[in-house]
Amino acid sequence: MKLSDFLLPLLSIPGVCAQFQQVTNFGSNPSKAKMYIYTPTNLPPNPAIVVGVHYCTGTGPGYYNGSPYKRLADQKKFIVIYPESPNSGGCWDVSSRATLRRDGGADSNAIANMVRYTINQYKADPKRVYVIGESSGGMMASILAAAYPDLFAAVINYSGVACGCFFTDSVAGWNSNCSGGRMNLTPAQWAKYVYDAYPGYNGVRPRMQLYHGSADTTIAPANYNYSIAQWSTVFGYPATPIQQKANTPESKYTTQIFGDRLTGIYASGVGHGVPVHGDEDMKFFGL
Ligand SMILES: *[C@@H]1O[C@H](CO)[C@@H](O)[C@H](O)[C@H]1NC(C)=O
Ligand SMILES: *[C@@H]1O[C@H](CO)[C@@H](O)[C@H](O)[C@H]1NC(C)=O
Ligand SMILES: *[C@@H]1O[C@H](CO)[C@@H](O)[C@H](O)[C@H]1NC(C)=O
Repeated sequence: MKLSDFLLPLLSIPGVCAQFQQVTNFGSNPSKAKMYIYTPTNLPPNPAIVVGVHYCTGTGPGYYNGSPYKRLADQKKFIVIYPESPNSGGCWDVSSRATLRRDGGADSNAIANMVRYTINQYKADPKRVYVIGESSGGMMASILAAAYPDLFAAVINYSGVACGCFFTDSVAGWNSNCSGGRMNLTPAQWAKYVYDAYPGYNGVRPRMQLYHGSADTTIAPANYNYSIAQWSTVFGYPATPIQQKANTPESKYTTQIFGDRLTGIYASGVGHGVPVHGDEDMKFFGL
């Protein structure tokens, strides 16, 4: 017997050592998305989970290294799941019929299965599962919010689009009408995408916070309005903010509150890829 035969099993007990690793057996995964997980040291019982969904060209390990969530997990002791897109170009499938439906077998389903696996495996707290996504990942975040409202307590997306906006009826398609801000849907039509993602759902939906830059030339700023129209309708909130805070959380960002569960943050002069605000994210999640 080698020393490592004793040490390796010990090191793999959750909570003993900090670990970043790939998980291959997380459940049904027809789209072949990859799962990576980070567990900090001294994980408390029933930890919270944050899912960090990368942008186009991203990878699980790249997002682990390039976003603040590992550092925040070390401080606050939660698990981070880093899904990795299986599609060429590293964008998420946010455009197919299957991904826009609960348990439709596409990328959104794979991510939901990663969460279900992690809740079981680590006895994580099912009431404290959160998602943040950037760009393509932000679009995915809005689909997860719509299709799995029972799985996620809160969702933050950076520079994404409304659920369904990118629909093309093809896997990981690019919808230039959406990205260009040339959609002409009514608030009720926007809300229908959310209802259709999980027909008949009547329960509580995740709290949402969405960031968008006014100078975004990749995903036109009109997408901020589409998202607000979509979710204010779903929540039954007014279409205009009930409270507005200038220069919050920083200079030139305006925070708009539509109700308890919907906050928009419009970043004046900021382009695509609004920088992530990890510490603010923690406050929104209550971590
Ligand atoms: C962000 O995410 C929310 C919910 O996840 C979604 O409805 C919204 O459309 C997305 N869009 C933007 C611009 O952030
Ligand atoms: C974009 O809009 C044009 C004009 O309304 C329409 O012909 C076209 O099919 C749309 N493209 C997509 C991907 O929806
Ligand atoms: C978004 O909505 C606001 C408020 O109704 C409006 O002033 C603004 O012009 C809209 N932005 C875009 C890009 O359509």
